[in-house]
Amino acid sequence: MLKLMDKPVSNAPWTPASWQSRPVRQMPAYGDPVRLERAVAELSRLPPIVVSWEVEQLKQQLGEAQRGERFLLQGGDCAESFAECESDLIAKKLKILLQMSLVLLHGMKKPVIRVGRFAGQYAKPRSADGETRGDVTLPSYRGDVVNRPGFTAAEREPDPELMLRGYERAALTLNFVRALVDGGFADLHHPEYWDLDFVQHSPLREAYQQIATSIADSLDFFEALSGGQIHEASQVRFFASHEALLLPYEQAQTRFIPRQNRWYNLTTHMPWIGLRTAQPDGGHVEYFRGISNPVGVKVGAAMDAAWLAELVRILNPGDEPGRLTFIHRFGAQQIEGCLPAMIEAVRATGKSVLWVCDPMHGNTETTAGGVKTRRFDNILGEVQSAFRIHEAMGSVLGGVHFELTGEDVTECTGGARGLADVDLGRAYRSTVDPRLNYEQALELAMIIAGHRPR
Ligand code: PEP
Ligand code: CO
Repeated sequence: MLKLMDKPVSNAPWTPASWQSRPVRQMPAYGDPVRLERAVAELSRLPPIVVSWEVEQLKQQLGEAQRGERFLLQGGDCAESFAECESDLIAKKLKILLQMSLVLLHGMKKPVIRVGRFAGQYAKPRSADGETRGDVTLPSYRGDVVNRPGFTAAEREPDPELMLRGYERAALTLNFVRALVDGGFADLHHPEYWDLDFVQHSPLREAYQQIATSIADSLDFFEALSGGQIHEASQVRFFASHEALLLPYEQAQTRFIPRQNRWYNLTTHMPWIGLRTAQPDGGHVEYFRGISNPVGVKVGAAMDAAWLAELVRILNPGDEPGRLTFIHRFGAQQIEGCLPAMIEAVRATGKSVLWVCDPMHGNTETTAGGVKTRRFDNILGEVQSAFRIHEAMGSVLGGVHFELTGEDVTECTGGARGLADVDLGRAYRSTVDPRLNYEQALELAMIIAGHRPR
């Protein structure tokens, strides 16, 4: 039974609904509690999208990344949209993530964990509850799982049924990803399957081709030597992640798994808490406290040592490897000033986290023409600073988190083709944050992996 906004209760036992007794930010104001309750009840009867042993497998791998033995590549759209739940777009997103992971694997010489921002990345935090145009104020658009982008009262009304539509699309997306991967699409013997049409004309083509061929050759060589197929190494996996912002949706698929004797959120492998909802006493942290998934928290400049220590205490009291990932996003300008103190703060807790750099969300700017963009050099600069600072402090940067697409969009400037502000109008498709296009994403992976000088 879903009741929203009970009185605050401190130190009450955790349940999938105990977040409701805490202050909760970024929650839509659903007009009809009966319809909300009905949608949540229906959602909770549907089969899960992921299963607990996959979730545990990811957690184990993230634990290895924490020790520097693996590297996490997490990426995808800022927000998925229902309209873009299409086979071609999903396949392209997989291809760019595969290509980037191949380049990282080759350069860093360690296994790469691939986690998509997909199959449920439908809810967005907003800076204001309402949007005003002229003398009309309507609720802000909060992502397709909450309401619709059009500026009419009907479209902006939060609709609980959209949670069901979102869940179905998330399941369709992950089902297609699984089928492609199982069907050999991601077989390392055949990186040519992942080629995108426009790679033919890319300035990066040759460098990428060499890496792909080198990996396929090494695999052939190793298999010839050992006399068999290396299944474990040549089969790749994908995991799903999203910002677990809309707590009624997350609550509905939170299950107790007797075999594991633990609770799991089974809408996704790795939910994360966004910057705007990471208050230690807030509803989101309360919800995350009780699930056993590996969880991420975005970390920004406004947080301090005490805040971080409190998050570690609440979210990872047992110091379980792979359980807690801190995704820092300070911006190229601020990372030097902010990150060292954060690393110290976590170290002082005596517990470990996986550190990941999101070089997107601290580097958003608006052009003179009013377009939201990000510069390739700032994105790269923040990643490079992150590697340097972690290393200098004896810490490990265990992964990167990008907003990207497998398409040829023009949303971020810079990169090998030198996109400028004037190019942004050509193919700007994101309704939220600007994403790296296919080439920019691949180039970034190549530079990080040391394949291209910078
Ligand atoms: C996001 O990842 O799209 C996002 C909103 O990030 P943050 O919470 O770091 O601002
Ligand atoms: Co974003």
